[in-house]
Amino acid sequence: MRILVAGGAGYIGAHMVKCLAENGHTVTVFDNLSSGHPEAVRWGRLVVGDVLDRPALDAVLQADRYDAVMHFCARSLVGESMSQPLVYYRNNVLGTLTLLEAMQTAGVDRLVFSSSAAVFGQPLSERIDEDHPLAPINPYGASKWMCERMIEDAVKAFGLHAVALRYFNAAGAAPQGRIGESHQPETHLIPNVLRAVLEQGSAAPLQIFGDDYPTRDGTCVRDYVHVDDLAAAHLAALQLLQQEPGMHRFNLGNGAGFSVREVIAAAGRVCGRRVPHQVAPRRDGDPATLVAASDHAREVLGWKPRYTDIEAILETAWRWHRAPVY
Ligand code: NAD
Ligand code: UFG
Repeated sequence: MRILVAGGAGYIGAHMVKCLAENGHTVTVFDNLSSGHPEAVRWGRLVVGDVLDRPALDAVLQADRYDAVMHFCARSLVGESMSQPLVYYRNNVLGTLTLLEAMQTAGVDRLVFSSSAAVFGQPLSERIDEDHPLAPINPYGASKWMCERMIEDAVKAFGLHAVALRYFNAAGAAPQGRIGESHQPETHLIPNVLRAVLEQGSAAPLQIFGDDYPTRDGTCVRDYVHVDDLAAAHLAALQLLQQEPGMHRFNLGNGAGFSVREVIAAAGRVCGRRVPHQVAPRRDGDPATLVAASDHAREVLGWKPRYTDIEAILETAWRWHRAPVY
């Protein structure tokens, strides 16, 4: 198939492009490089452009006949979305709206959308399945919820077929891909933990954002899922769209939560070094716990994550962070 990967120069998108190319698909990446890296686009063609720019989208979608679009573009930092909500609604909601309009005009009728666990807000159950109420508690999560709603309406109205994949916390790196997680500034836990290990003595210790949450050790609990396992779920979603038209939603995680302190301890074992850290105030917008129930993805997509162990995930991240290419 010929696939347009919007946001394919970013962390998860670049792993997706690699996975698509390795499975025989032809890929064009469309990315404004706001948080992505041209060096990460190593298995497809890169078109630099913004999903808010309708003429640029029309040009790329009409130059070739695409079988599907995968849409990874977003501003995606929970804390930042609390202080800059309108930036998030513009980029994520308007960007998705513009992409949907351009797809309709170009007659591209299959979409796989990067949604998020952040659509659920504070969990009402230990593990979150697809029937959990949608009640986002930060503008980032609200923007993803709005996108899902627009996509659902487009599916009903004009024959778009779509899968929304709600990732929990993406982590790790391709073991042999020379691609990995690199954001400027970096706000995600695992890269910050590994940087604290690598730069100890010369940089500030890792900040633990809050140790007074209602969790087993007071720090936030998240479900870390390997980026290559997320890519595999997208491939399965593409296949599903060929067999089962309509709108589908899947929660993607390992079903096991790790606290910030547990991630620090596991990283210490993987790196064989201490992780310098200190407790800081809570970060605005963070729910205490987010853990997925991914039974639906296992049953319908046949998705079986290969990385179920936090140390195995951390090892792939550690390999990248010791020698990052970009
Ligand atoms: P990322 O920032 O590394 O990648 C996003 C990519 O989209 C970047 O290359 C960026 O340049 C591009 N982009 C952003 N806005 C754009 C625009 N207007 N036009 C064109 N390109 C644009 O982020 P990521 O961690 O790879 O996340 C990818 C997607 O997955 C996002 O939609 C994010 O919300 C979602 N998600 C991520 C996680 C996670 O743990 N990383 C969890 C849940 C959902
Ligand atoms: N944290 C720290 N110190 C840091 C960085 C993070 O204590 O230096 C804590 C956070 O407060 C949070 C946890 O580690 O409790 C995980 O934080 P991340 O920033 O790594 O990830 P988030 O859970 O905030 O968000 C990520 C993605 C979102 C996605 C969400 C779904 O960035 O796009 O997972 O769970 F929606």
